[in-house]
Amino acid sequence: MSEPRVIVALDFDSGEAAAGLADRLKPGSCRLKVGKELFTRAGPTLVEALQARGFDVFLDLKFHDIPNTVAAACRAAARLGVWMLNVHASGGRRMLEQAAEAVRGAASPPLLVGVTVLTSLDDGDLRELGYAETAPELVRRLSALAQACGLDGVVCSAREAALLRAERGEGFRLVTPGIRPAGSAGDDQRRIMTPRQAVAAGADYLVIGRPITRAEDPQVALESVAREIAHRGS
Ligand code: C5P
Repeated sequence: MSEPRVIVALDFDSGEAAAGLADRLKPGSCRLKVGKELFTRAGPTLVEALQARGFDVFLDLKFHDIPNTVAAACRAAARLGVWMLNVHASGGRRMLEQAAEAVRGAASPPLLVGVTVLTSLDDGDLRELGYAETAPELVRRLSALAQACGLDGVVCSAREAALLRAERGEGFRLVTPGIRPAGSAGDDQRRIMTPRQAVAAGADYLVIGRPITRAEDPQVALESVAREIAHRGS
């Protein structure tokens, strides 16, 4: 079986609810994303419990701090055995380089990806923050910086995936949220793409939350996405 491309976002407020959802999914068919709310609630114990069930975990804590602190946090995440973790690319060259070095030194190094520009920020927000570039320009520049510093990829909108794939080459992992299977509710996501469109644009991994976690049968919803991606050539 090919490696699972879908990362199910476990956006729950308790470890019990997250574990309950995980128990309705098959480990070989997806990865799981643990973010700030769930990790703050349920911590490393939950991550270990999910891994013990056979799931790869993407620890979505978006570290952003001085280089030494971020490197130590990355080392701690790697020791926890996670499959993927992330840092803010805007933390700068030294922070990114030290994060990459910390991860490379782990017994089994997780994938390290960068967050470029939060999709909640528009060009007006960026100007207010002192950035002269538009969001897409900044995404391209921070992706190049992340790659130059030894990161394995970036989190990006599927709309940016084709351009980043062309600029950063094969092997640079593109992780895309904002995915909605054809016919499903958009929820609060605005600029969405279907799984098939995202993979065709060059996405490696698709972060999908509510269309799977709120489905009557999450595994059935997941398999339907997997089928849609598998037939992307058709
Ligand atoms: O439920 P839904 O599919 O919208 O969940 C998407 C997940 O991806 C959430 O955990 C959300 O925080 C995350 N995410 C996002 N858009 C970004 C970055 C992360 O939706 N630009």
